[in-house]
Order: sequence, then structure tokens, then C-alpha cells
Amino acid sequence: MLQRILPVIACTVLAAQSFAQPASLKTTFRNDFLIGAAINTRQIEERDTTAARLIPAQFNALTPENIMKAEIIHPQWDQYNFDLSDKLVDYARKQGIKVNAHNLIWHSQLPGYVRRIKDADSLRSWFAGHISTVAARYDGKVYSWDVVNEALNEDGTMRSSVFLKMLGDDFVVEAFRLAQKAAPHTKLYYNDYNIEQPKKRAGAIALIKKIQAAGVRIDGVGIQGHWRAANVPMKDIEESIRAFSALGIEVMFTELDLGVLPNPWDNTTADVGRTAAYKADMNPYPGGLPDSVERTQADAYAALFRLFLKYSGKVSRITFWGVDDSGSWLNDWPIRGRTNYPLLFDRHGQPKRSFFSVIGTKNATAGY
Ligand code: G3I
Repeated sequence: MLQRILPVIACTVLAAQSFAQPASLKTTFRNDFLIGAAINTRQIEERDTTAARLIPAQFNALTPENIMKAEIIHPQWDQYNFDLSDKLVDYARKQGIKVNAHNLIWHSQLPGYVRRIKDADSLRSWFAGHISTVAARYDGKVYSWDVVNEALNEDGTMRSSVFLKMLGDDFVVEAFRLAQKAAPHTKLYYNDYNIEQPKKRAGAIALIKKIQAAGVRIDGVGIQGHWRAANVPMKDIEESIRAFSALGIEVMFTELDLGVLPNPWDNTTADVGRTAAYKADMNPYPGGLPDSVERTQADAYAALFRLFLKYSGKVSRITFWGVDDSGSWLNDWPIRGRTNYPLLFDRHGQPKRSFFSVIGTKNATAGY
């Protein structure tokens, strides 16, 4: 009798232990791809105790959510502010985590003095100085750079940014050329949202081919992945993994989150410049997520990770845009002050149903 009961007791104890100490994303997918998170200032400074526990346990890649953007790292023409970036690099080294630096060239979050530049020569000189100084400082210290972020319109044409208008449409190639020179030991990526969509994807492919044709190095492309849990464009994503990897570069999902709140517009965008006013009916779950929505999200995450695993030889990193739901940008965009639930860990850093569904794609016994 005892012989029969013992294995049952052992299994129960093991199950209880694995419940108390949930599986680790980075361990589960260690042979498939890196698992990253975007982190904010409090997390870099280790003032967020939940993140301080989750980051080393769950992630092996980090992206600074804001602190390496030009507005913060290069606040005046002749003044750089490397304090937080240096802290991030030290923290990541201490924890054995790779850093994807974000980003060198982006039309948004530019410092005021750059937005006021009126002549092309001055902008060209800022552009070269910024890339060379920042990329050189972290060469060999960060693993990779998002060299150019969001240079495309939804129809695949080039976005009419200050860089396009004043430097011409070769500015992307030039950014990669300068980054390659300043950071020869660092991987160089192009990063954008909605580039899984056919028209924008075609624009991204043309841009990548142009960089390659110029003999300039580009190592990968980041599909941001700000999708809605109820409507993840699986077919477009699969076609994009194939099309981008056919260019001989890594494919990454660099800013993954699956929002569950209503969208004030018909289309999907991650354009931080577009916002809408607060209305109570646009914030339907302030006190908690209904079971059915939780399941929709868990199923969507599982479908995505099954796809990522199918292409694990081509997909090199999956980064979530935040550590847990409390810090997600989607609580404040496109409408300020909402309660969104886009990530795998809840507001207290506890694993959600979506966490277990993701783990379950690798280990069928984990379930959810
Ligand atoms: O730093 C100020 C702070 O001093 C002030 O108290 C606070 C008050 O609102 O604002 C702070 O700045 C905010 C900053 O995030 C840090 O929290 C900015 O207003 C806010 O616009 C900024 O938003 C960031 C946004 O990029 C614009 O840079 C989001 O956190 C960040 O998640 C988001 O990330 C982008 C990626 O870089 C590119 N792809 C899309 C993605 C989501 O928009």
C-alpha cells in the first residue's frame, strides 16, 4: 500500500514546489531564443523589488525602455548623460544578461535643440556625432543596437521625418555605416512596428536590401509586436519570419505585448504621437481581468510561441515590452490612466495564465 502511495506523495510535493517556484522563461527557451524585457529607470536602479526578483530569474536579455533615447542620453549638443546607461550595462554584466541598446536614430523623443535645427549640415553633424559617440562608448559592452527605429509609414514608404526631409532617404544606410564603424563588435538591427503587415513589410525589405547593397552591415530586424490579444496577425507574422530571414538576417520580436483594452481607432498603431481622451467605457477592467479575456490572451500567447518555436532557428530573441503589467506603457497609451494587462506577470509580479500557456508550448506537462 505504502509503495503505491509514495509516488503520489512525491508527485504532489513536486507539483507544490513547482507552483511555489514557477518555471523560468529563459531556462525553458534556452535552446531556442533569448527572452528579454524592456526595463525602466526604477528597475535599472534596482528600486523595484518585484522586478529585481523577476529579471534575473526570467530574462537573459534587457532593452532600456527609454534611457538610451537621444532626448535622455544626449540632452545638449555638447553634453551626454551616460549615468543610467552605464548603470544598466553594469547591472546586466553582473547578472550575465545581454543588453539590446535602444535606440540610436528615431524621429521621436529627440531633444529640443535637435528639433530646432534648421540646416542640413548641422543636422548631419549632430547625426554623425551622436551615433559615433554613443555607439563607440558601448561597443563590446552591449550586445546589439536598434540603429534606426520606425523609419517607415504604414504603406511602406519612408516616414517624412526630420531625418528624411533634411538628410535624404539614404539616412538609414548612413546610420548603419556610422554604427558599423563605431561599434564593430555590436550587432546592428532595424526596428519597427507593423512590419509584419504586407505593405510595410515590403518597405522594410527594400530598406534592408538597400543597406546590404551598399555593403553595409545589418544583422537583424526587430518586429515590435504591439498587438491585441483578440487579434494577433498570425499569418502575416509567419510570412514575415520567412521573408526577413530569407535576407540572411536574424528576426526578433522586440517589444511584445498583447493589449486587452478597446482601441479608440479602427487600425492598430504604436505611434506614440497618437493619443485619445479618457472615457470610463474605454477602461472596462479596472478591478481585474475577466476569465474569458484572460483565456483569450493566454491562447494568443501560446499560438505565438508555438510559431516562434517552429522558427527557432531563424528567430533569435523575444523581448516583452515591460516586466509586469504595472509598468506597461499600455496603461497610459493611447489613453492615459487605464488598467491594461498585456504581459506575462501581473501587477504583483505573479505569473499569469498567459505565463503558463507560454511555458506550456515547450513543456506540454506544464499546462495552464
Ligand atoms: O521622464 C518623464 C518624467 O520626468 C515625467 O515625470 C513623466 C510624466 O508623464 O514623463 C516622463 O517621460 C515619459 C517617459 O516615457 C518615461 O516614463 C514620457 O512622457 C513618455 O512619452 C515616455 O513614453 C515612452 C515612449 O516610448 C516615448 O519615448 C514609453 O515609456 C515607452 O514604452 C515607449 O517605447 C516605444 C519604443 O521606444 C519604440 N516603439 C514603440 C514603443 C511604445 O510606444
